[in-house]
Amino acid sequence: MIFSQRTNWHRQQNKLTELFDSLRKSGRVILDLTVSNPTECGFSYPQKEILSSFENQSSMVYDPNPHGLLSARQAVTEYYRQKNISVDPSNIFLTASTSEAYSTLFKLLCNAGESVLVQKPSYPLFEYLAQINDVELQQYDLRYDGEWHVDIESLNNLMIENIGKSKAIVIVNPHNPTGMFLKKDEYKAIKEIARQYNLAIIVDEVFIDYAFEDDESRIGSTANESDVLTFTLNGISKSCGLPQMKLGWIIVNGQRSIVNEAIERLQIICDTFLSVNTPVQVALPKLLTIGKNIQSQILNRIKSNYTTLLTTHNPHLTSQCSPLLSDGGWYGIIRVPRTKSDEEWALQLLEKKGVYVYPGYFFDFTDDGYLVVSLLLENSIFQKAVSDIVEYVSLSEP
Ligand SMILES: Cc1ncc(COP(=O)(O)O)c(C=O)c1O
Repeated sequence: MIFSQRTNWHRQQNKLTELFDSLRKSGRVILDLTVSNPTECGFSYPQKEILSSFENQSSMVYDPNPHGLLSARQAVTEYYRQKNISVDPSNIFLTASTSEAYSTLFKLLCNAGESVLVQKPSYPLFEYLAQINDVELQQYDLRYDGEWHVDIESLNNLMIENIGKSKAIVIVNPHNPTGMFLKKDEYKAIKEIARQYNLAIIVDEVFIDYAFEDDESRIGSTANESDVLTFTLNGISKSCGLPQMKLGWIIVNGQRSIVNEAIERLQIICDTFLSVNTPVQVALPKLLTIGKNIQSQILNRIKSNYTTLLTTHNPHLTSQCSPLLSDGGWYGIIRVPRTKSDEEWALQLLEKKGVYVYPGYFFDFTDDGYLVVSLLLENSIFQKAVSDIVEYVSLSEP
């Protein structure tokens, strides 16, 4: 075989995407609750301002820097200053996306066959990011008891089983798809484990600006962590609703000597690719400013759709169709009876009601009984789709 084992992916469509494609081709109108691309969700983007932020002569000069342009990193520093967090631009590396940032960090931290610990449920990209970098994934559990928690015992057990093999704990904060924000006591316990087993922490904060409410029990950004070697990831894909601009960042923090070593190694990795284009770096200070308006539109939308999710029910039927409570983020989770698999629920909702949702298994839920929906859709579409789901599930109860 000419190709590598690691690219030997199963590429057939699944039943759900096959059905979706065939219904679309037949002209059926589908309420697509899987859309998480903000540029397709009817937000009002200040197009002129965005495009004019790219009209800048500085983009005509190539001034390669493995960290990214200082002016762009200063804009990232300003983004954190507004959160009362002080970040040194020399601790920042710009990347073309958060996904690329993960890949860079897996290369920095892991030898082939070593592992990183990720949450379960989890968003699906990790599997590919890990395979492409010859890294193994180990999953620690999140559990729900009216709110989501990190199961610290499951993390501890994984560590004990894999001493010497695991290199980093990944925390998505707030988490995709559960919307869980990490609580202070959980973070403390995770840091303790990282210290004990000499692991780095990778915190993915791409949804940090999307909390439904403030809450003192949660940690804020980890961009100024000083104890443990910590890599904090974010970018304009989610914070400004601009995934097409392709700009993310890594902030390195922790104890000085290990941070310096990490920075020197990252400089060589990033210098090898220099993957972030100059125009987007030059535009970044303006994009981050313009992005605040887009961010607030998105925040209003997700809050309103989350409220719809909480309040839509069928008063005439005792429905087991109820939302899980969440702290923020772009997704909602609907609990459905386990009388059918998630995939069957998703297939039936698509076929009978024309509503397209993610089955929970797509996000690696351990058990059946969960559907995942994007909160980004326009309110009226979201409302109609959720009522259709509730009605269908209620009427299907045994
Ligand atoms: C939690 C999380 N992190 C990272 C990403 C990827 O972001 P980017 O567009 O910056 O690669 C996604 C995309 O959905 C995500 O959900």
